[in-house]
Amino acid sequence: MIEPGAAELTDPNTTLYRGDNTIVDIEYVWASHQIEIRQIYDTLYNDHPYQTACWHLLYQSISKAFSSRAAALNKKDKLKAQSKGWHLSNNLAGISLYVDRFNKDIKGICSKLDYLQHLGINVLHLMPIFQSPPAESDGGYAVSDFRKVDPRFGTSADLELLIEEMNKRGMYLMLDIVLNHTSHHHEWALKAKKGESKYQEYYYMYEDRTIPDKMDQTMPEIFPESSPGSFTYIKECNQWVMTVFHSYQWDLNFKNPRVLVEMLDHILYYANLGVDILRIDAPAFIWKEIGTNCQNLPQAHEILRLIKHCVQIATPGMTLLGEAIVAPKEIMKYFGEGAYSARECDFAYNATLMALQWDALATGKTQIMRNAQLQLSSKPLGASWISYTRCHDDIGLGFSDEDISKSGFDPYLHRKFLQEYYAGSYADSPAAGALFSVNPRTNDARISGTLASLCGLEKAFNANDTIAIQRSIDKILLMQAHSFFIGGLPMLFYGDEVGYTNDYGYLADLSKSYDNRWMHRPVIDWLKNDRIHKIGTIESNLYYGTRHLLSIRQKFTSFADLNNIIWLPNENIHLSAYLRYEQDQKIFCLFNFSAHALYLSWYIFKEHAEEGEVLFDHWGGEAMVIGPDQEWFKISAYGMMIAEVK
Ligand code: GLC
Repeated sequence: MIEPGAAELTDPNTTLYRGDNTIVDIEYVWASHQIEIRQIYDTLYNDHPYQTACWHLLYQSISKAFSSRAAALNKKDKLKAQSKGWHLSNNLAGISLYVDRFNKDIKGICSKLDYLQHLGINVLHLMPIFQSPPAESDGGYAVSDFRKVDPRFGTSADLELLIEEMNKRGMYLMLDIVLNHTSHHHEWALKAKKGESKYQEYYYMYEDRTIPDKMDQTMPEIFPESSPGSFTYIKECNQWVMTVFHSYQWDLNFKNPRVLVEMLDHILYYANLGVDILRIDAPAFIWKEIGTNCQNLPQAHEILRLIKHCVQIATPGMTLLGEAIVAPKEIMKYFGEGAYSARECDFAYNATLMALQWDALATGKTQIMRNAQLQLSSKPLGASWISYTRCHDDIGLGFSDEDISKSGFDPYLHRKFLQEYYAGSYADSPAAGALFSVNPRTNDARISGTLASLCGLEKAFNANDTIAIQRSIDKILLMQAHSFFIGGLPMLFYGDEVGYTNDYGYLADLSKSYDNRWMHRPVIDWLKNDRIHKIGTIESNLYYGTRHLLSIRQKFTSFADLNNIIWLPNENIHLSAYLRYEQDQKIFCLFNFSAHALYLSWYIFKEHAEEGEVLFDHWGGEAMVIGPDQEWFKISAYGMMIAEVK
């Protein structure tokens, strides 16, 4: 345990050879960065009793991480720096998976790298792998030891071997740091329960309900059904502790600089394991103030900037992904604003686009999605989206009321329709999902369900309806393609590549039954996945369709995330159409979100292509000559075109 005051200012062992064989000295690097870092630090901790001692510890942590970075990682850092934005490249494609549910353990993951690479994946997001109590785990997001690989998944040695193997294959690793909270079984929480005041200061703990009552008035509930309110009574120490998520996840108090220093040390430790992308879990929540909703506060951004700075000094090859699933205008801020533009998080989830794709699929109309693009396109150059259709979490309909109203709908009724459509209760809805975290006071609800079930495959399969099965396959590929090509690192969710439908087995497991997100976190049955080898199966159609899409993306630098997108004329309300470009290369991406074929005029291409030019559709494999305006071409129901101008 690091104690404030025990620090030494200088570490003698900090001169080292970086990847390019030049000698770099941490004190030299530090000298050029410390003023800016100190400014942020002092904004947060001015006059705090631990201010000076923790500042020294922060330096020590950076210095230690800098000097212990392995030569191979220094070399990789240098290659990344030379590539001028490796993380923006069209060559990247990722997948998120639970180690145990995908293939038992870390060794099992290693044995499936061929499968993933064959699909076109080179970024692997292992869902939380550090120790977490099995019965109160939140899928690993309740960490009881930030340094110990959970024995259920294997050992640190297994992780090292996996990373080594991935490096050989040119793959990248993404891991989580659960910054906002710990498990109540974490050493700090156990000591706090015993009454140790030092550790009680690591959390938001109160002797009575006065402050909790005040805060509960303005803090929205995250899991209103399973964990109402934001505080939990701890009988061992007769205190109330802040638990924004589940009652077993205690919120860390970043107002205490000790917490910042400890967590920064874990971050740099992960960087030196060889993490390429660090997913910062729930950063919107890391600072709390009475009277606010305790989300997206300016101090949360200051902390992220400070972390980014420290990472850049000590372990520069690791990028940061801020998992901020918040209102569209708030998400943008995680890329950094003003002087910090593109200097906060390197990645953020494009949760707005993700939800709006689901909107377009249910309504068959794309206006709301298009309305949101103006705001989304203000992402700074140098930062990138994670683009996705599904992940392990629920789908929140967090897009703006204003964009809904502009399209002529009532926001409340519109969201209600979407909830009913995807929960499957709306008449004739093909979807089979469920409402998640229904808040009876606000009627707010999010949506659970796998990509396949929400796209109709579960109902179609159960009804043995081959036409509906094909339709759901088309929808799945349409949803994936729209997010693969729009810009950002595509992040698939395991199982979606072969169409796993909802798994209702979680209902029989008491540690999961209260959380229906488990319905879309499948346990992989490798006999099912082996069906990709049998032509004509659902699995094969989806796997090879997905693979084809990813291979198109990898072929064209236009798909790198360089803010190189132009929305095409709004010819038809069912169509989403954008142009991706890079130098002379132009790729037209057209998607039909409706259940009917669309007949479009060539006019849509006119502004960006010369008359008589040939378009080659890489998805359908067809070449077409652009005709005069009165001619028409067709895009089938839920069809698409990814066409290059030749
Ligand atoms: C993030 C995770 C989610 C988890 C929550 C609390 O949002 O994605 O799965 O429940 O944080 O840790």
